[in-house]
Amino acid sequence: MSITFHETSRTFHLSDSKISYIMTVLPNGHMGQLYFGKRIHQKEEYPYLLEMVPRPMGSYVFEGERTLSLEHVKQEYGVYGSSDYRFPAVEILQENGSRIVDFRYKGHTVTAGKPELKGLPATYTEKDEEAETLTVVLEDEETGVELELLYTLFAEGGILARSARFVNRGGSAVHLLKAMSLCMDLPDCEYDWIQFSGAWARERHVKERRLEQGIQAVGSMRGHSSHEHNPFIVLKRPAADEFQGEVIGFSLVYSGNFLAQAEVDAHDTTRVLLGIHPEWFDWKLELGEEFQTPEAVMVYTSGGLNDMSQTFHRLYCKRLARGYWRDRARPVLINNWEATYMDFDEEKLLSIAGKAKESGIELFVLDDGWFGARRDDTAGLGDWKPNTELLPKGITGLAEKIEGMGMKFGLWFEPEMVNKNSELFRAHPDWILAVPGRSQSQGRYQYVLDFSRKEVVDYIYGSMADILGNAKVSYVKWDMNRSITECYCAALPADRQGEVFHRYILGVYDLYERLTAAFPHILFESCASGGARFDPGLLYYAPQAWASDDSDAIERLKIQYGTSYCYPISSIGAHVSAVPNHQVMRSTPLSARADVACFGTFGYELDLNRLTEEEQEEVRRQVEFMKKYRGLLQFGRFYRLKSPFEGNVTAWMSVSEDREKAIVGWYRILNGANMPYTRLKLAGLDEERLYTVYEDGKKQGAFYGDELMNVGLITTDTSAGDVLPGLGQGLHMGKDFDSRIFVLE
Ligand code: DGJ
Repeated sequence: MSITFHETSRTFHLSDSKISYIMTVLPNGHMGQLYFGKRIHQKEEYPYLLEMVPRPMGSYVFEGERTLSLEHVKQEYGVYGSSDYRFPAVEILQENGSRIVDFRYKGHTVTAGKPELKGLPATYTEKDEEAETLTVVLEDEETGVELELLYTLFAEGGILARSARFVNRGGSAVHLLKAMSLCMDLPDCEYDWIQFSGAWARERHVKERRLEQGIQAVGSMRGHSSHEHNPFIVLKRPAADEFQGEVIGFSLVYSGNFLAQAEVDAHDTTRVLLGIHPEWFDWKLELGEEFQTPEAVMVYTSGGLNDMSQTFHRLYCKRLARGYWRDRARPVLINNWEATYMDFDEEKLLSIAGKAKESGIELFVLDDGWFGARRDDTAGLGDWKPNTELLPKGITGLAEKIEGMGMKFGLWFEPEMVNKNSELFRAHPDWILAVPGRSQSQGRYQYVLDFSRKEVVDYIYGSMADILGNAKVSYVKWDMNRSITECYCAALPADRQGEVFHRYILGVYDLYERLTAAFPHILFESCASGGARFDPGLLYYAPQAWASDDSDAIERLKIQYGTSYCYPISSIGAHVSAVPNHQVMRSTPLSARADVACFGTFGYELDLNRLTEEEQEEVRRQVEFMKKYRGLLQFGRFYRLKSPFEGNVTAWMSVSEDREKAIVGWYRILNGANMPYTRLKLAGLDEERLYTVYEDGKKQGAFYGDELMNVGLITTDTSAGDVLPGLGQGLHMGKDFDSRIFVLE
C-alpha cells in the first residue's frame, strides 16, 4: 500500500494491491474526488478527470469564468450553498446565522498504522505496517474551524476506512448540524443499490433496486441502528454477482441514528453519504473543542459480492472485534429464554442445565427475569440484584452450581433500561430520557436511562460490576428492548439537546469499554430485541450478536444470509429452538434447525428435558459435530452459493484458509414431486485437491476441487434418487424443510 502526494498537481494517490483512490486540491482549495476503483498506475496528475465545463444553469466559483462549479466537479466532502446543490457532507450553523463554509486545503500528514478514534469503536492495527493513514487538514478561515479527513488503507488491500474530525480553532462557538463520516462522489450511476432491511424478527433481508436520478436512502432515527435498516449498503454493477463484477460495500461503525444515502444527480453522478443521521443532530462546538465522526469503511472489489463480504469478514473478525474471544471458537450454549421465559426457579434452571451438560453443552445462560421485582416485563429493570426467592444463593450460588456441573455460566442484562416499577426509578426519576413537564412514551413498559449522563453510566457500571465481580460469570448477554423517544437530557442546556442521541451511544460504548476492560475473559453477546443493534460499532466490544428473535430455521435462512453480506459468521448468534416455533408456529426437523444454526455461534434455546430420547441423542451428535467443526464454520472463508431470496433452495459453505477442509450447508424449503436434478457448484476449493465428501459422518465419495466447483454436488433429489456425482442412484425421499450438511476433507 502507498500514499503518494504529487506536489505540483497537489494530487493524492492512495493505492494498494487492489484499489486506487485519487483526489486533488481543486483551484478553490477544496478537495476534489478523481477516482475510486480498481488499482491504476501512478501519474503526476489526471487532469482529464476534472470535468470542468460550462453547463446551463450552473453556478460558478470564480468571477468571470464558467468552469469550476462545485456541483459538477466530484467533491471529497461536499458543502452546500456555494454552487453545489447536492446534499452536503457537512453543515455548520455559525454565530451570524450563516451555514456557508469554505474548507480549503491547509496541509496533510501520512502516518504508519491507524490512530484510535477517541471514545468510538473503530478498526485498528496491531502493528504499524498493517496500515497507513492520510490526514488531510482543511480550514474554513471565517469560522476558524478545521476539518481533518482521515483515510486509512490496510495492507490487506481493497479497504479504505474514513472519518472526519472537526476542531474549532476560531473565535466563537458553532453548531455542527451535519457531519457525515463519508462522502463519496462516483462518476456514474450504473449501480444496483442493495440494502439490508426488515423489521423485528425479520432483520437484514436483502432488498435491491437500480439507482435512479434522485435519492435512495435508509437510516435509523430510533436511537439504535435498528431492526428496520442496517448501517450497511452495497453498490454493485448490474452484471456483478456473488463471484464476479464491481462491488462497493459501505459500512458504518456506529450503533445509533444513521443515514446511508445515494443521490444521483442530473448528470448521472452518484454521491454516497454515510454517517450519523443529521435529523435531530446538533453538536455545539465551543472554541478548542473537537468532534470526531464515527468511522465508515468502504470495500471495493471487482471479484463480486462474496469477495466483498470475505474482506469485511476478515477485517471485522480480526481488526474490529477485540479481546480474548476474538480468535476463539465460541462455546456451545443453552439459553433458558424460550424454554421458560420468566417462569422459572432455581430447580427448573438446574434441570435444564443438567440435561444440557449430558448433551455436551458448555455454557448455561440465564436470561431475563432473575433480578429485582421482575416477574413479568412491567417491573424490575434497573435493579440488578438477584431475586433470592427464585435463586436462594443469588447469582453467585447459581453460577457456582452450574460450574460445579462442569459448565460455564452466562447472564442476561438490559443495562440501558428502567421500569417505573423499580427501586432505581423511584430513587432517580430524572435519570430517564424525557422532557420535563411532558408525557413520556413507553416501550415494553420500560423507559430509557439517560446514558448521556456519566453518573447514570457510573451507577449501572457499579451494579453490573458488583454481580460480575462476585460470581463466576463467563458470558453476558446485553439486551436493549426499545427505541428511544423524547430524547432530552435534563442535565444539558437547551443548546446542547441536539447532542443527546450521540452522547447516549457514547455512554453505551463507555460502559462496554469499562466492563470489557474489567472483565476481559467474559464473552459479551449484544442483543437488541434480537437484531436491532447488529452493527460494527458493537462488534468492537461484543464479538457476537443475537441475530434475531426469530429462531425458526426457515426464517433464519434469509436473516443469516442477509447478515453475512457484512458480518462474519463468528458474530452471528444462532440457536436451535423448540417446535412449533414460537415466532411463526412452524415445525421444522431438529436437524434442519441445527444445520442452519451451525453457521453461527450455535446454541440451544429450549428445554432439552422435553425432547424424546431419540431427539436428545440427536442433540448430542449435533453438539459433537459443532465442537469438531466450529473453528471452520465460524472462522472459515464463507461463500454464499444460493440465495433464499431467489428460490426454494439456499446453500452456503465455509472453506478453511488452507482449503483443506470445507463444510457445505444445503437447505430446501418445500419438497416437490419428480423434481429435476440440480447441481450445486461449490466455491473456494483447491482445483487440484481430491476431497472426500462426508454426509452424517459417512463417506460419500471423493471428488477433485475442479469437479466440485465446475460439475457440482448433485444435491436436489427427485423425491427419489438423491445422489452425489459418481455415487449411483441412492434412494432418498426428500421432505419439506429439508437440509443437508456435507463435510469435505
Ligand atoms: C429480547 C431478546 O432478544 C430475547 O432473546 C430475550 O433476551 C428477551 N429480550 C428477554 O426479555
